[in-house]
This record gives sequence, structure tokens and C-alpha cells, in this order.
Amino acid sequence: MKAIAEAPSKAIITGEHFVVHGAWALAAALPRGVRVEASESTGFNVISDEYSNPSTSGLRPITEAVRAMAREFSFNPHLTLSIKSEIPRGAGLGSSASTLVAAISAIARLHSLDLQASDIIRLSMVGEREIHGHPSGIDAAVCTIGGVILFKPGTDPKRVAFKGRRSLIVALSGRKRSTKRQIRRVAGVKGAFPSLFGSLTEAASEISLMATKRLVEGDMKGLGRLLSSNHAALSTLGVSNRHLDRLVDLALSLGAYGAKLTGAGGGGSVIAVAPGGKEKSIISGLRGRGFQAFRAEIPVDGVRSWQER
Ligand code: PMV
Repeated sequence: MKAIAEAPSKAIITGEHFVVHGAWALAAALPRGVRVEASESTGFNVISDEYSNPSTSGLRPITEAVRAMAREFSFNPHLTLSIKSEIPRGAGLGSSASTLVAAISAIARLHSLDLQASDIIRLSMVGEREIHGHPSGIDAAVCTIGGVILFKPGTDPKRVAFKGRRSLIVALSGRKRSTKRQIRRVAGVKGAFPSLFGSLTEAASEISLMATKRLVEGDMKGLGRLLSSNHAALSTLGVSNRHLDRLVDLALSLGAYGAKLTGAGGGGSVIAVAPGGKEKSIISGLRGRGFQAFRAEIPVDGVRSWQER
């Protein structure tokens, strides 16, 4: 008997970093994701292209989350987890959260545990804390629930519903970075300029609320403007750099309504929104300059799991 779970990747549409300090943020689950197969075994093993040896430090987030789950639900963590990811690590697209959410969900299915979304998020956060130090929880929430969510720490994530489908352009800078280091950098700015940081946090929160409205109304031009404003606020925090700015400028010069870094910054990815008729040419323009880029249709489902013999 084995159990399988698939979790989506994600993009933060607006509000990253500021969300760690109490602002509203808007995030979407994206079509590519992580698939985890869980089966019973004599010890704890992880099979993955990224990790071959369960003692490697990169595996600590998963081992800690699985241990916490085994303690809480009184089972023996003798398992083999086989992980297949379509998301590059360190790209700001939620590879760690997606892996954790899929692993917890597959193990729950293997042991026939009826976990709520809030349990999956809480257990995934054990691993997310190992990686990020002080994560807001938005990544685990959107990879679990799916769709588009409006999120603020300490409140239940709100599902954002709209008629029809929307699309985002995602472009990868090809540069990895550490989310933990970026979060620390932002904490340094908060310490040095508390009142400026407070104003930027309020503005970012407002941007997320306005962006939600634009997305629901299908006003992609308005949404694009808000993305660009949010990028400016993130640049003020020092989490952008010349590579990301170049990618944002490139998307704009190719005809996007707006663009910004997504996730922790310092590398990772950029998202853009564009007129429907220009998406193809923007993506080929980005690819022509050597960047991986794709169109992501939203909304997509959250994690799902099933058993197989
Ligand atoms: O996981 P990343 O690298 O996409 O970044 C997460 C977003 C942050 O706001 C920077 C951190 C958090 O936990 O909200």
C-alpha cells in the first residue's frame, strides 16, 4: 500500500516580507508542483533528485515535520518518501512549502488520518520554521488550500473567489537565494527605520487589499499598476537587485501592465500581468533573452491525496 499527494507551487502576488510583519498579502497556487509518494518501510528514507541521503541538513525540515506529526498522531515514522518536484528550489515559487504540504498529506493518507487544512498547514510550518526562521505561513497556506488567498498572520486565510480564469507570467531569474537571509535583511531595515518601515507595511497591506479587488473584477491593468508599486516598496527594503530590476523592466518594455519580484527576492522569480494578446510575445521575448518563463493560469486546486495498492 502506498499513498500519494500532489501540492501546487505558488506565487505571492503582493505583500511578501511585509506579511511577516502583519500586513495583508495576496498569493496564488500555481499549476506546477510537487508529488510525494509515501510507503511503509523499516526506517525513514527519502528518495529525491535533490536529496539522496536522509542525514543531509537539507532534509531537516522534512524530518522535523514528520517527527512532529508522528508524535502527535502516535505512529512510527518508518516511511519511505519519494519526492518529485517540478519547481526549482530557491526560485521563490514555494518548493519547500509544496514539498512539506505534499509529504504531510501523503503520510496522513497512508495512515488514514483525517487532517483538516489547518492541521496540514500547522505541521508544514514545523519544517518551514527550520528553513526560514520566522515564516508568515502564507506559502504553506496557499499550497494547502489552493486557489487565491488573502492572508494575514494570526487570521484564517480568506479564499478569493472570481468568475473565469486569470493568468500570470512567471519569469525565473535563474539565481538562487536564501529566504532566511532575506527575512533577516528586512528585520534589519525595520530596526534601523521603524517609522518608515511601519508606513511601508501599511501601504503594502493596502496594496494587497486593492489588488484583491482588481483581480476579482478582472481589472488586470489596475492589478499591474499595483504590482509595480509593490515592487518599488520591496526595492526600498533592499530585497530587489539589478538582476530582478532588469527582469521587471524587460517585462514592462515587452508590454506588461506591471511586474514585480515574487517571494523573498535577492534572486528567485518575477511575476507580471499583461494584456491577453501580449502574453505570448512577452514570454517569447523573455525566453529570447535567456530566461525561463511561463504563463500560469489561476485558480488551481490545493493539495490532493489518494491511496494506491
Ligand atoms: O518562500 P519564498 O522565498 O517565496 O518567500 C516567502 C515570502 C516571505 O514573505 C518573504 C516570507 C514569509 O514567510 O512570508
